[in-house]
Amino acid sequence: MVVGISGATGIAYGVKVLELARAAGVQTHLVVTPAGQQTRAYETDLTARELAALADVVYRPADIGAAIASGSFRHDGMIVAPCSIRTLSAIAYGNGDNVLTRAADVTLKERRRLVLLVRETPLTLGHLRAMAGVTESGGIIMPPVPALYLRPSGIDDLVTHTAARALDLVGIEIDTVPRWGEQIARPT
Ligand SMILES: Cc1cc2nc3c(=O)[nH]c(=O)nc-3n(C[C@H](O)[C@H](O)[C@H](O)COP(=O)(O)O)c2cc1C
Repeated sequence: MVVGISGATGIAYGVKVLELARAAGVQTHLVVTPAGQQTRAYETDLTARELAALADVVYRPADIGAAIASGSFRHDGMIVAPCSIRTLSAIAYGNGDNVLTRAADVTLKERRRLVLLVRETPLTLGHLRAMAGVTESGGIIMPPVPALYLRPSGIDDLVTHTAARALDLVGIEIDTVPRWGEQIARPT
């Protein structure tokens, strides 16, 4: 699968997608935008090298001739986590200005699964129109909204649940993360 990390807050979602995919034996192809590298530095203790080591193959955003920029590269789906409004907008309008947005556009045109963990709030009409555009092209907009019914014991629980749901949407099952009805406390 292809994983994109852009410069919205919440790089933990991208990191968790990579970790869960690796644990599930799924090969990952990663591209991180320059703004994504900034949020990595703000929000984690990971170096760029340590982040790259979580993936099997890593591409520079400017390497527009990379394998994932071509429709002939076969994969099971692409997740952008987190997805900034800038990256969402580029994808919505087919602006393949870097390898992440180009790979996402190719994913849509080849009718493969594309899941965008768009993170911004509140939203303008322009943001919503871009989300509608991606949805009309077959992409899935999945804002990383926490599921509090899980009674999370911390941020990692919330991030893990969202990352596992995103992987679900590209057909990758994470059986270590419980689904509703499995090990979740019910009201008495
Ligand atoms: C700490 C930090 C947090 C940010 N959070 C968001 C965010 O949640 N959503 C968003 O759309 N942009 C956010 N931005 C702004 C984007 O990084 C900026 O629009 C950038 O141009 C996105 O580039 P990219 O889409 O190529 O990664 C944030 C920037 C910084 C430095």
